[in-house]
Amino acid sequence: MNTRKADVLIIGSGIAGLLAAKLLSVTKNVMLVTKGSLKNSNSILAQGGIAAAMDEHDHWKEHYSDTLTAGNYHNHVETTEILVKNAAKYIQQLIALGVPFDRNSNNELELGREGGHHRNRIVHAGGDATGNRIITQLISHVKKLVTFYENEMTFELLINNRKCVGAITKDSFGNIQFYQAEHIILATGGIGGLYSLSSNDITVTGDGIAMAYRAGASLIDLEFVQFHPTMLISQGKTYGLVSEAVRGEGARLVTNDGAYIMDNIHPLKDLAPRDIVAREIFYSLQNGNQIYLDITMIKDFKKRFPTISDMCEKNGIPIHTGRLPVAPGAHFIMGGIKTTSNGETSIPGLYAIGETAWTGVHGANRLASNSLLEGITFANRVAAHILQQSKQEQPLTVPICMNHKLTLPAKKEIKETMTKHVGIIRDKHGLQTAKKWLEEYLPSYKGNQYLDVSIEDMETVNMLTVGWLITLSALERTESRGGHYRTDYPKPNDEKWMKHYITRRRKWDESNQIKVPSAAIIH
Ligand code: SIN
Repeated sequence: MNTRKADVLIIGSGIAGLLAAKLLSVTKNVMLVTKGSLKNSNSILAQGGIAAAMDEHDHWKEHYSDTLTAGNYHNHVETTEILVKNAAKYIQQLIALGVPFDRNSNNELELGREGGHHRNRIVHAGGDATGNRIITQLISHVKKLVTFYENEMTFELLINNRKCVGAITKDSFGNIQFYQAEHIILATGGIGGLYSLSSNDITVTGDGIAMAYRAGASLIDLEFVQFHPTMLISQGKTYGLVSEAVRGEGARLVTNDGAYIMDNIHPLKDLAPRDIVAREIFYSLQNGNQIYLDITMIKDFKKRFPTISDMCEKNGIPIHTGRLPVAPGAHFIMGGIKTTSNGETSIPGLYAIGETAWTGVHGANRLASNSLLEGITFANRVAAHILQQSKQEQPLTVPICMNHKLTLPAKKEIKETMTKHVGIIRDKHGLQTAKKWLEEYLPSYKGNQYLDVSIEDMETVNMLTVGWLITLSALERTESRGGHYRTDYPKPNDEKWMKHYITRRRKWDESNQIKVPSAAIIH
């Protein structure tokens, strides 16, 4: 079987993966593999922007304080400091790479406001097309410097003597491909696809977290899932995100009869923390209301928010009425594959960056516009770390097990189960129901046994695996904090749970690697 060899293999094409690829390609032979096209990622959909203390009256310490407050003080303080302290420097790096951030008439960066920020500190590009502008620019660099493979899903990481030495992918024609690399970076994004309504790209199904788990990596904080309050919806279907920047410009959440829903809920009203706003909308919807964003006070809406305006037009949702129908949807997972501040996971040779990684910077609830910032920060750090390493050749010995028969549910059923029982509102009974249901389908795992299944089935296995892991952690945390809300434990319990991190790890058993019926040995 053919093996592609590189110094560094990057899996995923969001902001973190692309930027790491660009930075590493200076001296390394880099290959990048992605499940969809280079343009399939959550990063390209990002509307809000990147938070950075760039105004002369602002300071990174204020950004730090807002990040900790939003994170319910569950954040890792050292990495959070790294994040906010270097934000302005990394914005300059993107500018040097050609990203056209929006500027005012004095040619200064235009700084917007979003929920949880006490100052205007969000840089954006093309109004609400920030992610698109950044990714377009990064792709133009990467295409010249890096070998990339689109439409290949990574099925498994290859572990040899407890070190990650490569990965196996499959394309849509069923062709299996082996990759061998000294450094493997997971940049596969989050888990939005596990829920019925989500802001995420269609390809985002928790794959990185699932394969890291199968490989025996430590995972952490999986119970913290952020639901964005405002997906654009019509007839139960979501058409994408309506950025919080719209509420930052004054838009208000209203019921059918025009009542403001956030007035008596929180002093920050519509810009209260996302979990609080999302819950309020959830309750209002349950009470039979339809919820709208009243945008009548925003001048030149189409000019400021061209992406959202296009999205409405394309899907027959009129904006001239000044009301956009919205509902909450899964947006971001604060937990993920546990990493050091240099992106190292618990498995030598394996790194994780971007949403699939846990760096601790988001605590229990991510502050708006800190996700692209996390992507660029840790892409820089992982690249600097790898560039310092000396070369070490690794032989690749891979056991393969085929012919595994799976009985899987439809993806829709997983989404419904997760939404109903492991969503915005949780409790013990619902979580136990979800756990039981997921365990009925969850296959036992030995070796690289899924190589003979289709991409569709592999995604389903990953969704079941990650859904089950989130459910276990949500059951364990008997309190409410940030993105984890339980009606049976509705308050934070600082004494028991403050800075208490729930980790999960599949016990690595050498027999997982070796005990297989047919083995392909690759040197
Ligand atoms: C938004 O534009 O509302 C999303 C920004 C973010 O999640 O940081």
